[in-house]
Amino acid sequence: MSSETGTLTFGGKTTEFPVKQGTIGPAVMDIGKLYASTGAFTYDPGFMSTAACESKITYIDGDKGVLLYRGYPIDQLAEHGDFLETCYLLLFGELPTAAQKADFDYRVTRHTMVHEQMARFFQGFRRDAHPMSVMVASVGALSAFYHDSTDISDPSQRLIASMRMIAKLPTLAAMAYKYTIGQPFVYPKNDLDYTSNFLRMCYAVPCEDYKVNPVISRALDRIFILHADHEQNASTSTVRLAGSSGANPFACIAAGVACLWGPAHGGANEAALKMLEEIGTVDNIPAFVQRAKDKNDHTRLMGFGHRVYKNYDPRARIMQRTCHEVLTELGIKDDPLLDVAMELERIALSDDYFISKKLYPNVDFYSGITLKAMGFPTSMFTVLFAVARTVGWIAQWKEMIEDPGQKIGRPRQLYIGSPERDYPPIGKR
Ligand code: ACO
Repeated sequence: MSSETGTLTFGGKTTEFPVKQGTIGPAVMDIGKLYASTGAFTYDPGFMSTAACESKITYIDGDKGVLLYRGYPIDQLAEHGDFLETCYLLLFGELPTAAQKADFDYRVTRHTMVHEQMARFFQGFRRDAHPMSVMVASVGALSAFYHDSTDISDPSQRLIASMRMIAKLPTLAAMAYKYTIGQPFVYPKNDLDYTSNFLRMCYAVPCEDYKVNPVISRALDRIFILHADHEQNASTSTVRLAGSSGANPFACIAAGVACLWGPAHGGANEAALKMLEEIGTVDNIPAFVQRAKDKNDHTRLMGFGHRVYKNYDPRARIMQRTCHEVLTELGIKDDPLLDVAMELERIALSDDYFISKKLYPNVDFYSGITLKAMGFPTSMFTVLFAVARTVGWIAQWKEMIEDPGQKIGRPRQLYIGSPERDYPPIGKR
């Protein structure tokens, strides 16, 4: 806590509030006692100026375009590390030693199978169900299959639940995919690394094994690193809010999956690809950009803009490079969607509307093209995001549960409904 204070004058009375300073980033004014001292609440829909918690996990400098996991820049982690190392870092706060890494990888790998009855649970879904709807349900259902790790007051159960979710989400995601295309589920194979295993569960069939392409596996692993955490975004805040009531971790992560599905959040990669397909050719870009700028048209440039980044999203640069790598590896020389994306980016970045509003490409702008080239249908894009973000949700949930000052999240409101009135009999309404 800094010695600085903030003062607020309201109703003729001036009150002082303590100011807290983080390691980096803006200071926060602690207004926890505002209501008690002034009788007023703050009003901040969308949490534009509200820090809802203290956290040591992820830091974003939106003006400079910086993203740090536990202090490490995202580009260094994506370049030199792998996804499970990032998971360890996010969960435990430090990069693992070689022995810790080997032990962590071993434990995650040994949890990749799901209860056999889960397969029957899947049979209840329609074949044309969106895989995200299957994910919301199946992640929530983990709490019905793994009762023995739902006691949140027991640190060892919390850890087992965390390992289970990091390990099993790819299995559930692959099952959701296989189910919608009518193919049998493929069991995990423990001699493969995390991401290669996931690719094999998605693409192998019993009659023909799948040979993992290491370049594609490495690219997807990097995409997982890019999506692993992003401080107090909508789905993470949802997980924290659900967890603040003491709900079990599987239920909380299911809530995060549900929130991620929206097109303003994790659904944006699916929406960005659909947009590029709708634009179709480079000649149609100017008319589309015009629509995105028109206040009376609901069209937005999907994969552009961010609540926190008012500069190039650092993940978008790595994503763009990864996109080129994947297309080259797969011998896709001329992808019309990539041509549209690059020209759209060029035009938007030189347009006053986007410049003045500080709208830059976000991580989702190039991820759709990359995932499509890897063979994933658009309906799976947000599912892949959920697989990667699971560790971030868990790390944030764990941090909240372990905080001795943790309270149930309970925002207040500005009531604008009817004042108190008497109940009229039905004949008098
Ligand atoms: N295209 C066109 N105009 C935009 C866009 C866009 N993509 N994004 C914002 N704007 C405009 C708004 O119309 C608004 O204009 P105004 O001030 O004249 O009213 C202004 O920029 C500010 O936009 P807000 O919606 O108020 O900004 P907010 O911070 O609430 O929204 C969001 C951020 C939701 C990401 C928004 O930029 C958006 O909808 N982008 C497209 C969807 C997307 O790509 N989402 C992915 C986010 S990253 C992630 O979840 C991994």
